[in-house]
Amino acid sequence: MSRQINVYLCRNKTGVLRENELSRLSFQYCSVDVSPLSVKLPVRTEEYSHDLIFPFLENLVPEGDAFEILAKDHVSGNRIFSFLDKFGGDCAGAVAFYKTEPEKSNNKLHKIPSNKLVHIIDNLPQDPLLTSLENSPRLSLAGAQSKFAVKKINNQYYRSDDVNPTTHIIKIANNHFPDLLINELFCMKLAQLMFLNVPGSFIHSGSLMVSEIDLMEVQKRPYLEIKRYDRYVENGNVYRIHQEDFCQALGIVSGKKYQSGGGAGLRDCIKIIESFSENPLPGLTRFVEWIVFNYLIGNTDAHAKNISLLHAKTGIVLAPFYDLLSTEIYSKKIVDHNMAMLINGKGRYDSLKPEDFLSLFMQLGLNATNTMKGIKNRFSNIFEISKSLCETDKVLSANKTVCDDIISIIKKRITKLFS
Ligand SMILES: Nc1ncnc2c1ncn2[C@@H]1O[C@H](COP(=O)(O)OP(=O)(O)O)[C@@H](O)[C@H]1O
Ligand SMILES: [Mg+2]
Repeated sequence: MSRQINVYLCRNKTGVLRENELSRLSFQYCSVDVSPLSVKLPVRTEEYSHDLIFPFLENLVPEGDAFEILAKDHVSGNRIFSFLDKFGGDCAGAVAFYKTEPEKSNNKLHKIPSNKLVHIIDNLPQDPLLTSLENSPRLSLAGAQSKFAVKKINNQYYRSDDVNPTTHIIKIANNHFPDLLINELFCMKLAQLMFLNVPGSFIHSGSLMVSEIDLMEVQKRPYLEIKRYDRYVENGNVYRIHQEDFCQALGIVSGKKYQSGGGAGLRDCIKIIESFSENPLPGLTRFVEWIVFNYLIGNTDAHAKNISLLHAKTGIVLAPFYDLLSTEIYSKKIVDHNMAMLINGKGRYDSLKPEDFLSLFMQLGLNATNTMKGIKNRFSNIFEISKSLCETDKVLSANKTVCDDIISIIKKRITKLFS
């Protein structure tokens, strides 16, 4: 049996996704006047075949458990098609999948009271797609961590529906790495203090203003609330801004997010940055800051799905940075310490010398000496700032051990890089 579904971008019908009897997909834009889904999929009249459209779609769905849950009950047809048909109402960026045109909002929003929030958090590992909720939301976000998304207005969470996009992502604690949320909170806050472009806010549930009783219940279930940079609010309405991760921009599936798996390397990413901008220098400079910050905090998981392009009104730019955390504070036995992308051919942060960064900057077509000077200026006080962040932030100072582990990596790295 063949199936088809409409693809929307910023609520405009953009094309049709089809599946044939052999479960192969194809995509066709509905006009030459629409916006492209991806830099890899420019608007054209000719249909895109399975091999070209599949990576874009596959990168929209969660990795791991959430996807496997669908796969378990899945009987026939293409699994990615079925997933997006069922859950693709609110994805990363501005793309959405509907059989029929979504109805205009009747503004009937469904509140998520604290007890419901507790229920969602408790059940998320077994029910990652929230299918047990009445009127369950149709949303899909990539990544391996347990997460869901909500619309937040005036400090109150609401469930999204077909016409109400979500505004915030909620990441919940990981049983294997209970301090991962604190790790990410610390690194994101540090990046913000270092004036890197990161999402507008990230709040740990421990600092949310809810009633005493709720607070106790919620605090037992820590979570991280992250403002979506691919949404904006105007006159009370939420609008989407399109984004795509670098796997999508490169037309590769999520399994190729690591260079060691035959996937994306720094040079592939740079080609993308250079191709969409007449003056690539600001984009390249930000990209270099991302590379160096990950080195300083010991984030070996800086792969092609952890960096994205934002299709802003003013043009395509690097999206704010997300998923910044230190993987190196965990033992090599449980977390891979090989870097997701090689620097000057090397795959371990500890083996890098200042010369490797100089070579990298040269390979990027940058003035190596000036770029290194810029980097030194940019990060000269990161050690002091990280210490004071840990001391002054209420949630972080209560979790000093994790912060101290990251700070000691920063100290070691900054000494080495600036030696
Ligand atoms: N603040 C944000 N705003 C919009 N999209 C985001 C934001 N943070 C993450 N994303 C999107 O969600 C995906 C998963 O987020 P990520 O933080 O990488 O999760 P994980 O920890 O599971 O890897 C990213 O690939 C990106 O597309
Ligand atoms: Mg990620």
